[in-house]
Amino acid sequence: MNIVTNSEELKSLISAHKDSGQKIGFVPTMGALHKGHLSLVETAGQCTDVVVVSIFVNPNQFNNQEDLLNYPRTIDHDKALLSSTACTILYHPTVEDVYPQEDNRVFDFGMLDKVMEGKFRPGHFNGVAQVVSRFFDLVQPHKAFFGEKDFQQLAVIKAMTKMLNYEIEIVPVKIVREKDGLAMSSRNERLSEEQRRESVLISKTLFESKQQMDTKNIKEVINFVVDKINSSALLNIEYFNIVDGDTLQPVDDWNESEYIVGCIAVFADKVRLIDNLIYKNF
Ligand code: PAJ
Repeated sequence: MNIVTNSEELKSLISAHKDSGQKIGFVPTMGALHKGHLSLVETAGQCTDVVVVSIFVNPNQFNNQEDLLNYPRTIDHDKALLSSTACTILYHPTVEDVYPQEDNRVFDFGMLDKVMEGKFRPGHFNGVAQVVSRFFDLVQPHKAFFGEKDFQQLAVIKAMTKMLNYEIEIVPVKIVREKDGLAMSSRNERLSEEQRRESVLISKTLFESKQQMDTKNIKEVINFVVDKINSSALLNIEYFNIVDGDTLQPVDDWNESEYIVGCIAVFADKVRLIDNLIYKNF
């Protein structure tokens, strides 16, 4: 595995691989790697010849400075984990390397980033789009891999790819869960033992709600999920929306769309956890 910290070196390494006809796969991350990230690397290894992984905590996507400062940074551990994966090149840049000039671009994603994460974390997706487009320009991959864990991010990246005419295939990767169902996340490390036990309720409730599609309407399912999560003394729901999987706008009826997803954000004290479940996708 090659480890590079500057973009010139990155570009010359990649162009050598491209010159020999190899296909480039790209997995952007913010580090603090876990099995969820590693499954993106593994999938990239199956689909492409050269896997570039980036580890960069992108300041532009944090609307909360405390969250940025508290974001876990575990680069030595991350390098050790990546060394036994399909990762060919690890790009671990400085802020100056990624943003030699300030990035002032403002993207218009229409209603896509006005709901859910976009509504509760204003500016977040604009910052994600800035950094991912900067990486796309540097790496120019054939395929880029994103987790369905961040369902709305995936939709925004697809929209950005189209908007900026990148010829890059965006490949979605399924959510990797802990044995008890909790979606893997670097934030899980910040949960106390008691919060960690209780947070199982999030995925458990989502799975249970899927069993109710034949007997309950959407409003009733939303009420069920919200009541169940809020019945816990340790969890507070921020939102639970049942949306069209492409437009991310709320649906009122199970027959309104062929692609329906439930997306949730929950606080365990200060730790914010997100998860989602695909109800149907025909
Ligand atoms: P980060 O939170 O590090 O996530 C990197 C990638 O790993 C994302 O595509 C995310 O969806 C995926 N991922 C995280 N947990 C997962 C899980 N349990 N199962 C499957 N995939 C999972 O998302 C970001 O970083 C940043 O916004 C980034 C795209 C790197 C831009 O800065």
